[in-house]
Amino acid sequence: MTTVLDSSFVLRPRVASACSCLVTPTSTPSGGPYLNQLMKSQGKLWFGTAADIPGTDETTDPAYLTILTDPKNFGEMTPANTMKFMFTEPEQGVFNYTGSDYFLDLAEKSGDLVRCHNLIWLSQLSPWVTEGNWTAETLTAVMENHIKTLITHWSDRCYSWDVINEALAGNGSFSSSIWYDTIGPDYFHLAYQFATEAVEATGKDIKLYYNDYGIESPGEKTTATYALIKDLQSRNIRIDGVGLESHFEVGGTPSTADQLEAMQGYIALGVDVVQTELDIRFPTAPYYNETGQAEQAQDYYQSVAACMLVGPHCIGTTVWDFDDYYSWVPSSFPGQGGADIYNDTLQRKPAYYAIAEAIQGLPCTVC
Ligand code: G3I
Repeated sequence: MTTVLDSSFVLRPRVASACSCLVTPTSTPSGGPYLNQLMKSQGKLWFGTAADIPGTDETTDPAYLTILTDPKNFGEMTPANTMKFMFTEPEQGVFNYTGSDYFLDLAEKSGDLVRCHNLIWLSQLSPWVTEGNWTAETLTAVMENHIKTLITHWSDRCYSWDVINEALAGNGSFSSSIWYDTIGPDYFHLAYQFATEAVEATGKDIKLYYNDYGIESPGEKTTATYALIKDLQSRNIRIDGVGLESHFEVGGTPSTADQLEAMQGYIALGVDVVQTELDIRFPTAPYYNETGQAEQAQDYYQSVAACMLVGPHCIGTTVWDFDDYYSWVPSSFPGQGGADIYNDTLQRKPAYYAIAEAIQGLPCTVC
């Protein structure tokens, strides 16, 4: 493996942290290659990232923000939390746009498109939803109001909306959720019908997506997702794309051929695909030895290569935040980590350079 060192740096100030993985204030690379610039040069819409802003340390971390807001690095931002139900409709019929407006302003100032995320999910719901005493009819009205209000409010400041997020279990059946358990399987097409009506009322081209994990390679869940798309299409309800979350593990990442096959299946149905939440975590420490870094670079390479090889209907790749310091992984999978393309002191990892090579169709020199 070639270890790539960056020649120019900006300082990343650090506050004291409980994380023993952190080293003292260090430096951040600037200078190419730049991933969004490369993606655009290949006809893609973006290389993007999630960001958990506002309300977290990211919001005021100058070194993080320098990378995030540079249009050479990213052309799309996804809000990791602020547009979710519990934040946008904390009380029934009372909408809070403040955090999301902050996020949209930041993205727009940085020249980024925004994948608005998400409208209907089983998680991060307001207590009044999960604790309510609903009938199918009353909860359907809640769903309709939430979907139509947010789509109408932000209109085409959202490039797209993840209308439903993670509806399916591993075997392709619907997961238990307040929505499914109360309304039944009809909740799925009803949500997209309400979203379609809202988009048509705006007169704008706001794309409607289904977003999930475990649908990036052939299997029961992927087959079930194909069926959901066909069902919407048979009802003349809008569905523009599928978000392939792509939360993978080092050594357990689907091959390029498998990712390509799944993508081709979606595209054959007439929808776009996006890699929406790409990260590739180490199931165990250490996260930063040379062999592990090369394996991770290979896994990133083979994933982004699938998007490049499948053609223009894979419109872009978004990572689920870009540095290990702010990754969601350690808090959700204790003992796991190192999933992102920059380390916890904002140094680019071999995975970063592997992606640059995949985008350009070059062999991987860091894998
Ligand atoms: O808001 C509280 C804050 O007040 C408190 O001080 C802090 C203490 O831990 O927690 C904050 O809430 C956290 C929230 O993120 C906002 O930062 C929650 O504990 C934490 O569980 C929550 O995690 C988010 C997770 O979704 C929830 O399931 C992650 O940041 C977010 O990256 C993650 O994103 C999901 C996608 O939406 C869907 N696909 C999977 C992906 C990764 O889980």
